[in-house]
Amino acid sequence: MESEKCLEPLLSRRSVRRFEDREVPDELLLKAVDVARQAPSARNSQPWHFVIVKNRRTLDELSKIHVGAAPLRNAKAAIVVLADIEASPHSYVADAAIAATYLWVALHCLGLGAVWIQTLRNIEEVRAAIKAPGKYVPVAIFAVGYPAEKPSPKPRKALEEVVSLEEFGRGLK
Ligand SMILES: Cc1cc2nc3c(=O)[nH]c(=O)nc-3n(C[C@H](O)[C@H](O)[C@H](O)COP(=O)(O)O)c2cc1C
Repeated sequence: MESEKCLEPLLSRRSVRRFEDREVPDELLLKAVDVARQAPSARNSQPWHFVIVKNRRTLDELSKIHVGAAPLRNAKAAIVVLADIEASPHSYVADAAIAATYLWVALHCLGLGAVWIQTLRNIEEVRAAIKAPGKYVPVAIFAVGYPAEKPSPKPRKALEEVVSLEEFGRGLK
């Protein structure tokens, strides 16, 4: 069915943390960013900026921001998603998070693996590593490469657990 086909990339995306020792072409990374910039944003403010990092020294520096950033050590590239606070003062995190999600799914559609690396407790370190101006908040870093693992789906809460009808807590049955 056409609609089911459209949902497939959303349902098959996984967090990939191990990557092949194979360079990722710039064209693929740019293509994914080109999709991400189509994301919706408040007042169409598009407050995002994407920094593509391939330099090993910067990747290693970013990999040290916290223990969960370790996938950057074997990643061939990173894409840092930044949000301009001034361009969208009330929605910058939401705007950039949507663009980041588009980016993640686009990378997956292009045959690349990626994992979102948390940044919001390490804003200064990330800014310093990529020389970003102070009005930009790094909302996500993606460790990117050709997948060297095929992770199984992580469990999700049941539909009935996360949805109510008409008012909060009124179940489906
Ligand atoms: C906002 C956010 C922050 C995350 N931070 C990290 C992180 O720092 N390190 C990491 O290895 N995975 C991180 N992840 C990946 C999640 O652990 C992963 O998405 C979740 O376990 C579900 O697995 P799946 O992506 O394969 O469906 C993050 C995901 C999101 C959405």
